[in-house]
Amino acid sequence: MVDSAITIRPLEPEDIAATAGLLAQAMDDDPAYSFLFPRGQDRPAGLEDFFARNLRTHLAHRCTYVGVVGPTVVATVTMRPPDGVSISMLTMIRRGLLPFAYAHGLRAVRRLFILKGTYDAIEARLSRGKGHWLVHMMAVDPARHGKGLGSRLLNFVLDATVDARTTDGMPPAVLTTHKKRNVVFYERAGFEVDDVGDVSLMGEAPYSVWSMRRRPRP
Ligand SMILES: CC(C)(COP(=O)(O)OP(=O)(O)OC[C@H]1O[C@@H](n2cnc3c(N)ncnc32)[C@H](O)[C@@H]1OP(=O)(O)O)[C@@H](O)C(=O)NCCC(=O)NCCS
Repeated sequence: MVDSAITIRPLEPEDIAATAGLLAQAMDDDPAYSFLFPRGQDRPAGLEDFFARNLRTHLAHRCTYVGVVGPTVVATVTMRPPDGVSISMLTMIRRGLLPFAYAHGLRAVRRLFILKGTYDAIEARLSRGKGHWLVHMMAVDPARHGKGLGSRLLNFVLDATVDARTTDGMPPAVLTTHKKRNVVFYERAGFEVDDVGDVSLMGEAPYSVWSMRRRPRP
């Protein structure tokens, strides 16, 4: 049963540190993020920094939502809109790449580019090269897993974004997940598996990627 004390609202600047911490904890065993930060001891801090930067990039677009109990962030998801999250090349280099390289080294930058290229290609295939919503950075506090909070958050955000705009060719929502158990979770929100494939980055151990796609509700 979902806790009715949980409020869902857009991310505010003061939520960023806690939301990045929640995402870092949730993604610690994810194979793509393990590729980005292969050393287990570097991963928690690396991921917190990575997600904090990503959340800040999305902040002005008001497309990240959080579930909160009082001031505590217990769930989050980001729904990148079809027109993307615009950021100039200069800003990306100055505020994104340079501090990332300084904090984590050139090896991590190289891995970041490989990861981005791989997932950009999957996303382009999944969206048929057309405008689409992207569900990403989704996590629920582990102590609250399996109680319906993730479904409530995802359905709230789909209603507020993808399904609220029924014009302009109705772009689909897409996502990728690396856990078979998550497939049912996303199917309940209307997503269908479009493709399942193995990804091997830089010749490292392959892992499965489920690519999913959802048409807007009529
Ligand atoms: C995936 C996730 C967001 C789902 O949120 P939730 O609040 O646990 O989900 P709900 O209670 O609404 O729905 C339960 C369903 O979620 C899925 N699920 C995935 N991992 C789960 C877990 N550890 N515990 C319980 N349910 C889980 C299952 O499909 C489950 O259905 P089932 O009980 O019939 O197996 C959450 O489990 C999570 O944060 N996982 C770790 C990070 C992650 O995988 N994020 C998604 C990246 S694509």
